[in-house]
Amino acid sequence: MYEKDILGLSRHIGDKHHRAYIGPPDEYDLVSAMSFNLLTASGLRQHHRLLDIGCGSLRLGRLLIPYLNAENYIGLEPNEWLVQDGLRYELGDSLVALRKPLFLFDTGLDDLESGVRFDYAIAQSIFSHTAPDLLERWISDVSHRLLDTGVLFATVIEGASPCGGSGWVYPECVEYPLAVVEELAQRYGLSFKTLDWFHPRQTWCAFYKPSYNVGLLDGGAPSWNRFGRLREESAG
Ligand SMILES: C[S@@+](CC[C@H](N)C(=O)[O-])C[C@H]1O[C@@H](n2cnc3c(N)ncnc32)[C@H](O)[C@@H]1O
Repeated sequence: MYEKDILGLSRHIGDKHHRAYIGPPDEYDLVSAMSFNLLTASGLRQHHRLLDIGCGSLRLGRLLIPYLNAENYIGLEPNEWLVQDGLRYELGDSLVALRKPLFLFDTGLDDLESGVRFDYAIAQSIFSHTAPDLLERWISDVSHRLLDTGVLFATVIEGASPCGGSGWVYPECVEYPLAVVEELAQRYGLSFKTLDWFHPRQTWCAFYKPSYNVGLLDGGAPSWNRFGRLREESAG
């Protein structure tokens, strides 16, 4: 049955199918492209190490794992079945053997070796499910794990007042005023910028360390041409 229904187009969001559980199945490809293109326009190269927070069924990992050098993709995901189905139906054993992605089947980074640092982190549709305590914990943890040149890209649902509650909220969504998220970023030494990068329901935000090349964000609207121009200028 599964073999004939890999795209899951007749499934509903939240169904126990690797594509449907994490979002609308008919947008699976769009979310892959949106996220990968943002990262590469914002400077991601093969030698960078990247953390994919709540990597799910590898909607983004299926593009990043082949792109990055071996061992440079780290995916955190508490629902191990999503990763296993993503590996099986979206990526395949041979790419895994070549690129050796690392997976943490966990809700946080406590068990990750203390010296591991990242150039890039991404949280696509994660802060739309974190109550304030968990949102702060993720921003704090990522801030400690990013290199001084590092950046986190995350999506947020904008709302007039912050949500309440605690922990992980799913499949319901939570909203935040962007000023609340910015204040949290600054509390943990990260600069904050909202981005003009299309998302069907949420707002992309960058949280970056002091030495990240913020020129790549071009005032909030990164682009491939901008990336290329900066690259040529720095080559002299
Ligand atoms: C809406 S899905 C997004 C998946 C993926 N980021 C993507 O865009 O394809 C949310 C994911 O977060 C995972 N998750 C659950 N609890 C989490 C936690 N405490 N921290 C981070 N991610 C969590 C879920 O299992 C699910 O895979």
